[in-house]
Parts: sequence; structure tokens; C-alpha cells
Amino acid sequence: MKRIAVLPGDGIGPEVTQAAVRVMEKAASIHEMHIFLEYGKIGGAAIDDAGEPFPEETLRLCQNSDAILLGAVGGEKWNSLPSEIRPERGLLSMRKAMGTFANLRPASIMKGMEDASPLSPRVIGKGFDILFVRELTGGIYFGDKGVSAGDGEHSAWDEMSYSEMEIKRIAKMAFEAAKARKNNLVSVDKANVLKSSRLWRSTVDKMSQDYPSVKLRHMYVDNAAMQLVINPRQFDVVLAPNMFGDILSDEAAAITGSIGLLASASLRSDGKGIYEPIHGSAPDIAGKDTANPIAAILSAAMLFRHALGEEKAASAIEEAVRKTLADGKRTVDIARKNERPIGTRQMADEIIKNL
Ligand code: IPM
Ligand code: MN
Repeated sequence: MKRIAVLPGDGIGPEVTQAAVRVMEKAASIHEMHIFLEYGKIGGAAIDDAGEPFPEETLRLCQNSDAILLGAVGGEKWNSLPSEIRPERGLLSMRKAMGTFANLRPASIMKGMEDASPLSPRVIGKGFDILFVRELTGGIYFGDKGVSAGDGEHSAWDEMSYSEMEIKRIAKMAFEAAKARKNNLVSVDKANVLKSSRLWRSTVDKMSQDYPSVKLRHMYVDNAAMQLVINPRQFDVVLAPNMFGDILSDEAAAITGSIGLLASASLRSDGKGIYEPIHGSAPDIAGKDTANPIAAILSAAMLFRHALGEEKAASAIEEAVRKTLADGKRTVDIARKNERPIGTRQMADEIIKNL
């Protein structure tokens, strides 16, 4: 029996999570797995309920589970709260508390989805398949920060710092991933300006001696942002510090057609982790049954694969998603002209039919 903590969160989080849970339960019954789901609160939902975005109770639930399935956090309602108790802080505290330093964000164009990408067919060619390996528990997100108001003049700072240990463990994930894929690794930094990036670059360089089959290139983050739209096919695995990875993975999501399609896994060394769509809580469309649940559903597939070792069920879910899209079933974010979009629930129904 595997225990899965389900944290739907805010905005569209609950509806896409519900869709993913239905798909998981169906896949589990087909593949004779026993999963036990327990619900917890995070983000705005937890602030409303317990006065803090990542309550003790949720931490305990996460610690006692084999994996965590998360929806999304945040919304207008909580935007004026001080940063320590905003919904986003709940997500960051959870990542830190669980030690999930490696954020894997696969971004590929699914067959038949080429027309949903804003890039021209000339650039997309036969499509691309990139795995972002984003550092998740260090860097500027977790550095010293503060504000001061000396002489009535306000200033604020966020420190970006990386230790060799932090760089090594995430780089190892990226090298290993590259070895299992096309042996092509791009490490992103801003070493022409930042000290932390110079350490990042030299540490990654040293490690490359242990991976002779992997072709390593270093790329400045501004160039990487540009290369992603002019030639995404050059990338296989992309290794990036926390903030650069945050930005580049949104860009990569957009060029696959919709941010509503991309899943992610946030892992620690023992493989335990948090599985979540890379999109946010999209409060403007929350509760309307229009959100694309595919990112959440594919996150559930990653959970089956990485946390439970259920490769068969994982690929069955991915195959069902591919088939559903190939059949022309589209939510509004990916529907083509003159196509009638289907809703969140119906998308889950169609995927379940194809399982
Ligand atoms: C993401 C999100 C988060 C991040 C926010 C909500 C804190 O944008 O998972 O990419 O910046 O990491
Ligand atoms: Mn982001």
C-alpha cells in the first residue's frame, strides 16, 4: 500500500488535481496497485484554514507519505499579505522542508500539438524534447533577504548564493539524466557577471570528467532564453540554478503550445518527491471547468514512475493523454480554430476512456 498526500491548493489547483486523482485511481485499479490518498491544505487554502501557508499538519502528512501530488497555490485574495505568510511561501517551505532540491521539468511537443506552438514550423521541425533540471532549494529564492529604510530611502535585497555541495548534487542529477538520454547537457549561468555563477560553472566543469560520454556546454542565461526560441532542437538536458530555471521553464512551456501541458517532479536523492504541474493557480479561470488538467495528469504519471516505480501505469497514462490529444480532444487553451473545446472534467473522462 502506497500513501499519497494530495494537496490541491488554490485557484484551478483543486479541479486539475481532482482530474488527476480520478485518472490515478483508474490506472491503479487497472494495474492492480494499492494507493491510499490523504488530503491536506497548502497555500491560500491553508492560510484561510490554519493561518499559515504550510501548517505543521501538512508537513507531517507529507513526511508520512510515499509521494506528494500538488495542485497550485496563490491568488488575488492573499496578495496583500506579508511575504512570510503568502501562499507561495507555503510551496517554498514545503520544498525546503522536504529537501526536494531537484526539479525535473520535461518540455516536449507532443505529436499533433505542433500547431499549438507559437513558434513557426520552420523552427519546430520535427519537434523538440528538453528536460530542465532546475535547482530548487537554494540560490536567490532562499538567500538572505531584507528591506531597510535608512534616511527614509527604502532599499531591499535578495542574496544569491550557492555552495559546492548544492551545485554538485543537482549537477549529478543532470549528468545522469543526460547519460540516460542523448548525452547532451547545457548548463545555464551568468558567469560573466555573477560570482555564484562562476562557482556553478567551475564545479560543473570539474564534474564533467566523471561523465566522458556527456557533451557539456555552458550558456549564459540571456543567450539560453534566446536560443530556446530560435533553435529549441539543440537542447536535450538543461541544468539551471533556481531562478534561471524558473524563468526558462515557463518559456519552454509556452513554446510547447500551452503551459497547461507540462508536468514536473521535485525530487531529493532518495527519489521521494513532490509532483506538480508547472502552471500556477490561474485564479481568473478557477472553478469554471475550463482549465487544462493534462499537466496535473502527467504529473501523476511521473509520480507513478519515480515515486512508486510503476513504469507500466505511468506510460499507460502518458499514452492515454497522447491518444486523447491525437483524437482532437482539446481544452480551450489548445483548441484549434472552429474546434469546440471540452472542459476539465470531460478531458479527464476522455483520458480515462483511453487508459
Ligand atoms: C514554479 C512557481 C513557483 C516558483 C512560485 C509559485 C513560488 O513559479 O513552481 O515555477 O517560482 O518556483
Ligand atoms: Mn515558475
